Amino acid sequence: MHAHIQQRIQGIINNLDQLPSIPDVASKVLTMVNDPDISFKAIAEEISKDQAITTNILKLCNSAYFSKGKEISSIDRAIVTLGIKEVKDIVIVAATREVLNKIIVGYDLARGELWKHGIAVAVLSKKIAIMKNKKAVADIAFTGGIIHDVGKTVLALFVQNTFREILELTQARQIPFAQAEKEIMGFDHQEIGEKILSKWKFPEVLKAIVRHHHEPEKSPAEFLPIVSIVHIANTLCLMAGIGIGADGLYHELSDTAIKTLGLSNRELEELYRDMPQILDQATAIL
Ligand SMILES: [Fe+2]
Ligand SMILES: [Fe+2]
Repeated sequence: MHAHIQQRIQGIINNLDQLPSIPDVASKVLTMVNDPDISFKAIAEEISKDQAITTNILKLCNSAYFSKGKEISSIDRAIVTLGIKEVKDIVIVAATREVLNKIIVGYDLARGELWKHGIAVAVLSKKIAIMKNKKAVADIAFTGGIIHDVGKTVLALFVQNTFREILELTQARQIPFAQAEKEIMGFDHQEIGEKILSKWKFPEVLKAIVRHHHEPEKSPAEFLPIVSIVHIANTLCLMAGIGIGADGLYHELSDTAIKTLGLSNRELEELYRDMPQILDQATAIL
């Protein structure tokens, strides 16, 4: 372990100011959606305060993945046509894109590799939620998918050389990314990610996803199903080579996650077979 790197990361983690911020509207909308007394109007007003985000949201509403065929030209219409949960997903995509879709210097994989991975995991997580009759949490699965590796993005942005060193170690020793992170920095991207979500005032369930997506068995029981969904989606995407450069080559599906969701081998194979389609759908959001 490199003491100076560890100190640097500790500094970044302890000083929330150094961590990237996201537009206020994202955390506000996340909270508002969970409040049964809140009106559609109030949510639409909150979103409309941010002009840049609003433009992006409308573009996403009309994209192949979210569109219901009808042209949408206002946030009010979007909520009526797509529903509030779908609009919340879109707000999160628009708000996090700026932070998570950066060109990563010193990281020679294609631009936006981590972002593409996040979106693919989001689309697949939502699909698994619907497949396993957990439609009520499909929106959380989607949001969790987008941000599950947020800690990695921050690492790649703030300690570029360290990020490269971690990647090299995963390849040289054929170990998982999180293990290489621990060896080099004393932290893994799950811990860093959780700190970022605290700064962004994201709810506990999303923190649990970020924290436990590699080891769902460590998740608090109440969040286990949703953490399991993102874990399976993440692992299947990595196995299919979506985001492979950003992680080691060793990906194991957790038994706990498979049992929790009651996924059969046939269902897992089906999900894996649908990967090209998942990637197409993700590309429509990029
Ligand atoms: Fe991860
Ligand atoms: Fe991942």
